[in-house]
Amino acid sequence: MKIAVIGTGYVGLVTGTCLAETGNEVLCIDIDQEKVNKMQKGEVPIYEPHLDVLFERNIKANRLKFSTKLEEGLEHGDIIFLALPTPEDEDGSADLKYILGVADDIGKLIKDYKVIVDKSTVPVGTSDKVKATIAKHATVDFDVVSNPEFLREGFAVDDFLKPERIVIGSSSDRATKLMEKLYKPYVRSGNPIIIMDEKSAELTKYASNSFLAAKITFMNEIANFCEKVGADVDKVRIGMGTDSRIGKRFLFPGIGYGGSCFPKDVKALHKSGLDNSYNFKILDAVINVNARQKLVLIPKIENHFDNNLKGKTIAIWGLAFKPETDDIREAPSLYMIDQLLAQGCNIVAFDPEAMPNVKRKLGDKITFADNMYDALKDVDALVISTEWSIFRTPNFSKMKDLMASHTIFDGRNLYEVKEVQNEGFKYISIGR
Ligand code: UDX
Repeated sequence: MKIAVIGTGYVGLVTGTCLAETGNEVLCIDIDQEKVNKMQKGEVPIYEPHLDVLFERNIKANRLKFSTKLEEGLEHGDIIFLALPTPEDEDGSADLKYILGVADDIGKLIKDYKVIVDKSTVPVGTSDKVKATIAKHATVDFDVVSNPEFLREGFAVDDFLKPERIVIGSSSDRATKLMEKLYKPYVRSGNPIIIMDEKSAELTKYASNSFLAAKITFMNEIANFCEKVGADVDKVRIGMGTDSRIGKRFLFPGIGYGGSCFPKDVKALHKSGLDNSYNFKILDAVINVNARQKLVLIPKIENHFDNNLKGKTIAIWGLAFKPETDDIREAPSLYMIDQLLAQGCNIVAFDPEAMPNVKRKLGDKITFADNMYDALKDVDALVISTEWSIFRTPNFSKMKDLMASHTIFDGRNLYEVKEVQNEGFKYISIGR
């Protein structure tokens, strides 16, 4: 099939590449000429495991192309995906200026029947707005459907190629049939393509992400409470997770959720509630508890150093909001670094992928190490803020030789408490 994807951010790029992988002819449109030039040369602008291989393969096969011209996209595609940013507005709601701006242009350019697909995470009612915006100018038939993405960074290619479910919000049979045909190759395993109305599809995305954010946040509170009463959150987690109604996944406590989706989506659903005279009290609590959780290690660090952090050197392992990504949006590490710098600490950080992004943001306010061990030279403590695999089985005796003081604050519970203590470290983690 012939597809255009408007916007080559994270979602657009993964969507376009993975749609080309099953034989569709995909044209990706982005207004950023420099980015388009680079992509045409085969350079992937983001770090996402396995994407580079698919990217190169499909460009070579002529199934994946790039342009800055929206009109070329409209000429090429029978299905036009909108994968545009929906940044958080000052009041927490999702800003639709990019989506509606492009919808307006599409209205002016559209010459024959197209299915316009909202792929971005958008508030309930957006597909109606997109429809109305296009209809202001359009003289031909078109349909707008909602098709939320459920991609996890770091696993996006796999999530796209083997989705647990595809959600399509559509009230047009013609559009539904085209979408089913497009997605059929991805659900050969028998996973469902769920068809519903547009509003329910839009809400499914927000409800899923907010539920997962609440699940994590609930566990974070249980972990904090474990510390008060001397329980072990690892044991509680395993005890709870074996109940199939609860499930094992997304029960890992830590220093809060971050990234480009959960924080934004929880706030946007809360705001959307208020806009519709509904106060989501549970989401309000999730937002506040998560903000507190991002800094949950700070009082522990202050306590350890008798409230005098001035001149202390702290190593940080992990800057990305989670492993297998270079994304630092809403990363707990940045919130901690802010606080530690304000109290006069020196920071030496190491992250396998995210250091260039943090350098762009913080400049030389902190030092970056070439590898995880170099970060430890003469430090007064180590803080672990992302659970990258390479941090999971470190050489503890090498660490001891390097560190001036043998203290680890672990925001991701990477090690068995006894194991680290037996290695001669003071070990402070979450909920244990
Ligand atoms: C999420 C959703 O999973 C995905 O479906 C949606 O499309 C986009 O948002 P992503 O943000 O890439 O994906 O990351 P995810 O792996 O879901 O983790 C989100 C955050 O929750 C991270 O900060 C992670 O560290 C945290 N988390 C996750 C926990 O703290 N504990 C857990 O048990 C799981």
